[in-house]
Amino acid sequence: MKFFIDTADVDAIRELHDLGMVDGVTTNPSLILKSGRDILEVTKEICSFVEGPVSAEVVALKADDMIAEGRKLAAIAPNIAVKVPLTWDGLKTCKVLSGEGFMVNVTLCFSANQALIAAKAGATFISPFIGRLDDINLDGLDLIGDIRTIYDNYDFKTQILAASIRSANHVKDCAMIGADVVTAPPSVIKALANHVLTDKGLEQFLKDWAKTGQKII
Ligand code: G3P
Repeated sequence: MKFFIDTADVDAIRELHDLGMVDGVTTNPSLILKSGRDILEVTKEICSFVEGPVSAEVVALKADDMIAEGRKLAAIAPNIAVKVPLTWDGLKTCKVLSGEGFMVNVTLCFSANQALIAAKAGATFISPFIGRLDDINLDGLDLIGDIRTIYDNYDFKTQILAASIRSANHVKDCAMIGADVVTAPPSVIKALANHVLTDKGLEQFLKDWAKTGQKII
């Protein structure tokens, strides 16, 4: 499973990139706001060291305008994935831009039918939002499973990019279901390494080591 980092915080991406944890990056207008940076400038900086797909989102609502914005974003670097919302105009944009050879990430997906139609429109990635479904007492992971089944039934090549990941358990569950990619905030990626028994075991080892009076170096 690939790890994308869901942030426009360049320092946080660099830290994980140095550990080989970054297969790609996703951004959205809220994350650009949080970064306090200009979208074109920060996206270019991210693409200067991230080799995998870097999603940059359009903000227009009409297909013609979305296509123009998408082409401008795609011109930043060859590894840009143009992110478009799952609306009818977004699907038209997806069809046009994917036909031009650009990667397209169709975002704000909340149903299996939306994922099906995005695959028909040629999406490179579909972004189902798990956490936001959980927020309204629906099961975001059920959606990932449904999309996996549908895509496998018909051999769609669109990659399931599980988004709105809020916890380490979300990552594990997505991996079990077979999502192609998870995009998670840096804090969630780091939390994957945590276990209370690791901390406890290490504490005991260090106590016992001190009693040996030995040194390795
Ligand atoms: O990739 C989409 C993601 O940023 C949304 O996450 O936590 O705002 O629902 P969240």
